[in-house]
Amino acid sequence: MVQLTLPKNSKVNKGTVWPAAPKKTDKPARMKTFKIYRYDPEQGGQPHWDTYEIDLNETGPMVLDALFKIKNDIDPTLAFRRSCREGVCGSCAMNIGGRNTLACTKAIDDVKGGALSISPLPHLPVVRDLVPDLSNFYKQYASIEPWLHTSEAEPEKEILQTPEDREKLDGYYECILCASCSTSCPSYWWNGDRYLGPAALLQAYRWLVDSRDDAKTERLNELEDPFKLYRCHTIMNCANVCPKGLNPAKAIAEVKKMMVERA
Ligand code: SF4
Ligand code: FES
Repeated sequence: MVQLTLPKNSKVNKGTVWPAAPKKTDKPARMKTFKIYRYDPEQGGQPHWDTYEIDLNETGPMVLDALFKIKNDIDPTLAFRRSCREGVCGSCAMNIGGRNTLACTKAIDDVKGGALSISPLPHLPVVRDLVPDLSNFYKQYASIEPWLHTSEAEPEKEILQTPEDREKLDGYYECILCASCSTSCPSYWWNGDRYLGPAALLQAYRWLVDSRDDAKTERLNELEDPFKLYRCHTIMNCANVCPKGLNPAKAIAEVKKMMVERA
């Protein structure tokens, strides 16, 4: 499933095998091998898989802990994004053991098999190592105008919602824009320039279903497009990988239903 956008005519080579850092505890070693995608376009050359040996006694339980262990004690040139370290910011999304997820909430022990492979989110240009270029993803998110549109330019008091209307946002407002869903979707791989993808469409639905928003017609008009919306073929990878347990495919189906109902 993992496919990376690589420089033309390139292939991923075998890279350096890094020995484990010196032991800091007396416990019997629990060695684990990590194979990590490395690529630095500024340095030229081919992408490669570097191999790192880590004693799991010397690191925390999560994949992000192992990446910190490597960066701090073995190879400081490794590049990856992270911020909150608790599944809130979405910046540490990457492909771990063949599946898109968050490095900070993925336990090393939960990835079955021998060597644990880590690569950037698939089908995006790579800025460096595990850092993908999310420019197009954010541009698409901005295109759905993810803010409240009200008929009054400057409402004088807060706009209230009933508890029932507020509940309609559950399952959607929790999205952290990690891009795991969109980059696991084959339709997005092939048409990512024109298909908005699961994340942006889930966010579009979140505003469409908000009782305080006055731009439902305009929002639907913007989405009424054979590529932006209708390239979703209900493959369901999005719902299978979402680390927050959300279901973008359901949101997309609801948007399609709104289109039919207004026709
Ligand atoms: S729906 Fe889930 S996988 Fe997709 S961007 Fe939001 S949090 Fe990430
Ligand atoms: S570091 Fe914020 S979600 Fe992982």
